[in-house]
Amino acid sequence: MTNPWWRTAVIYEVYPRSFADSNGSGEGDINGIRAKLPYLAALGVDALWIAPWYPSPMADGGYDVSDYCNIDPRYGTLEDADALIAEAASHGIRIVIDLVANHCSIQHAWFQRALAAAPGSPEREWFYFRDGLGENGDTPPNNWISNFGGIAWTRTKNSDGTDGQWYLHTFAPEQPDLNWNNEVVQQAFDDILRFWFDRGVAGVRADAVPAMAKVDGLPDADYEGKPGFRSSEWTDNPHWDVPHIHEYMRRWRRVSDEYSGDRMFVTEAVVSSPERLALYVRPDEMHTSFNFDFLLGSWEPKTLREVIDQTMDSLAPYGAPSTWVLSNHDVTRHVTRFGRKRQQKQLFGIDADDQPIDIALGTRRARAAAMLMLGLPGSVYFYQGEELGLPNVDDLPDEVLQDPMFFQSGGTNRGRDGCRVPLPWSGSVAPFGFSSTTATWLPQPAEWEALTAEAQESDEASMLNLYRRAISVRRSVAGLQGEDFEWIPSGEFVLAFRRGDVTCVFNFGEIPVELPIAGEVLVVSADAHLVEQGLLGSDCAVWIHTV
Ligand code: NOJ
Repeated sequence: MTNPWWRTAVIYEVYPRSFADSNGSGEGDINGIRAKLPYLAALGVDALWIAPWYPSPMADGGYDVSDYCNIDPRYGTLEDADALIAEAASHGIRIVIDLVANHCSIQHAWFQRALAAAPGSPEREWFYFRDGLGENGDTPPNNWISNFGGIAWTRTKNSDGTDGQWYLHTFAPEQPDLNWNNEVVQQAFDDILRFWFDRGVAGVRADAVPAMAKVDGLPDADYEGKPGFRSSEWTDNPHWDVPHIHEYMRRWRRVSDEYSGDRMFVTEAVVSSPERLALYVRPDEMHTSFNFDFLLGSWEPKTLREVIDQTMDSLAPYGAPSTWVLSNHDVTRHVTRFGRKRQQKQLFGIDADDQPIDIALGTRRARAAAMLMLGLPGSVYFYQGEELGLPNVDDLPDEVLQDPMFFQSGGTNRGRDGCRVPLPWSGSVAPFGFSSTTATWLPQPAEWEALTAEAQESDEASMLNLYRRAISVRRSVAGLQGEDFEWIPSGEFVLAFRRGDVTCVFNFGEIPVELPIAGEVLVVSADAHLVEQGLLGSDCAVWIHTV
């Protein structure tokens, strides 16, 4: 297949709990997604990535899976999932599922079975059970820390109530790490992949992949001088991005290659450099990988240009396409991030800065940023609600917060709930058409009245209509179809590139700049009147057709 769909696709992340509620439970569900397929088709997306929809006690928003081959009753049934896959296909939309393979839930039968079995038993070999250190075994087996804060080990109780072995969890204590060195674990996931591919899913988003391989013997990590768990920032971490991870990736690729058609994997791998990331997309491994450097890049031309160049240069040797993403269910929404005049890196809800936030500025930049993503060659990932220009909800009351990050940090990190608030669809009061109950699992701000899909539908200048227009132009104009890309000279605060017959220009500065080229204006993010005078406004983008 010379140009499979995933090389250029626009993929929309659905966080099912917050997308659309069909049964008045206050949480979204699969039938809610089905009801919104016409909206998604009109937006122009090629595929939906659905964040975990499996049965889960929801200790980490569904990333703690208790059965990989079923659907959580709060979201519906397997039949609903089958119906979604089929109906989406009739709209030309593919379904990508989320596979959480580093860990499962403590409620999963595998873990319950292991707990009931004796130390050293084959059941315990599915996980990392170890005796504690010290005379009473009350010191954790090593010094590893968890991604969510605190020690990465929890001690079990024996059936007689005495203290037992410890188990490893890279994330929350409710998410025990599976032992990927164990062939039976590998086989179990081959079967899970086949279960979903057989049902017609087009792809798999692979969660927390670099955590899956650990250095043999689980040696202490040398955290001295390192930024804590921020495993992405150092290379000799014994619990992150360990080289034999690539054997597991190759095994998964062999499973997807059993299927005709063009099934794909996208890897969630936050690693120390674009070159390390590119190793995940070698021809016999994953097809694509999320570009966290782009997501974390500030709204600043020099940094963004560097990220774009490094992304393309590092992937070129392997022929893998670039991916571009600005928001997801783990980070502060980019309207809010870009609302800080000076930009800061941030991940997993942690804002490195307390500068005031100007939502109007953030929105203006977000419009231009959407055109940057959609103007670049490769595939693009949206997070539900960004097409409505939703800001992060930073003032949720403590008592509604659910993210384990909030609890494990002792409340010092408010976590990721602020980007997971249910979508506003219609009407003038909460729940804004999301549900028939006002008791939604997280409350929506009253100001979202102005941001509902319904309110934006008829407003030509809305964020929703900008997204629709840009996606449709991206699909129809020759230059934006291929992988051609060339920078054109521009001033200090400007980025400009040519893709065949299309030139894309972005002004990051505070005053209008002269456009380097004339032609038919295809899309402009704001201040169209300036473009008519050959100028591009501050924090604006334009795509120009040149012949
Ligand atoms: C990454 C997911 O996106 C995040 O939401 C989750 O908490 C961790 N992986 C653990 O599964």
